[in-house]
Amino acid sequence: MRLCINIDHIATLREARGGLEPDPVTAAHVCELAGADGIVCHLREDRRHINDRDVRLLRETVKTKLDLEMAATEEIVAFAIETLPDMATLVPERRQELTTEEGLDVKGHLHQLRDVVQRLQQHDIEVSLFIDPVPQQIEAARETGADKIEIHTGEYANARTEEKRRQLLDVVRDAARRARELGMGVNAGHGLNYLNLSPVRTITEIEEVSVGHAVIARALFVGMDRAVKEMLALTR
Ligand code: PXP
Repeated sequence: MRLCINIDHIATLREARGGLEPDPVTAAHVCELAGADGIVCHLREDRRHINDRDVRLLRETVKTKLDLEMAATEEIVAFAIETLPDMATLVPERRQELTTEEGLDVKGHLHQLRDVVQRLQQHDIEVSLFIDPVPQQIEAARETGADKIEIHTGEYANARTEEKRRQLLDVVRDAARRARELGMGVNAGHGLNYLNLSPVRTITEIEEVSVGHAVIARALFVGMDRAVKEMLALTR
């Protein structure tokens, strides 16, 4: 299973001060040196974290694979065609949301999505659709001609009981199998962390996972000790 790291929250921290640090482009480099199989970033319409400059520099510097998460809007599609990420993951976007809350309604926007998928593919951009693990959405995804789906694992990740988690893992498993049967590649992501990722690995149909928040949050703590010691050394 390949691991792609979403670096949006590095940019969130930068934007909290409106300066230049920490730079998500530097973070991407460190992730790649650590062995990550790819880098993911979400260019939101409101540019609340990742901005155009980040994506352009990431396109120039990422050596593994750059996955641009994006809404299927005219402005962002044009930007993707200009910057040429290796992959585009189409997601729904609501301005007020804290993070992507649900999968795309592919069934309800079939014609629009088919058009966007084709335009991106014409520029050799692989296209993945972020969807809930629902059979009708998987079948609709196939009809758009998308190369892959990314199964939304948020509900699984948020399950409060072990029984519910097992049930929801089976839902993800069934979705992954259905997508493979239909000839599509399968990724998964959202809410995956150090505790809930291992069971997902048992779903052999899932080729790639996209993880952001858990890794950035953990990086703060595994790096805190050294960061404090370095600052301390400057005070002595
Ligand atoms: N996949 C998609 C489509 C997402 O929108 C996100 C969140 O940006 C992720 C994966 C990563 O989720 P998390 O930050 O919870 O690991």
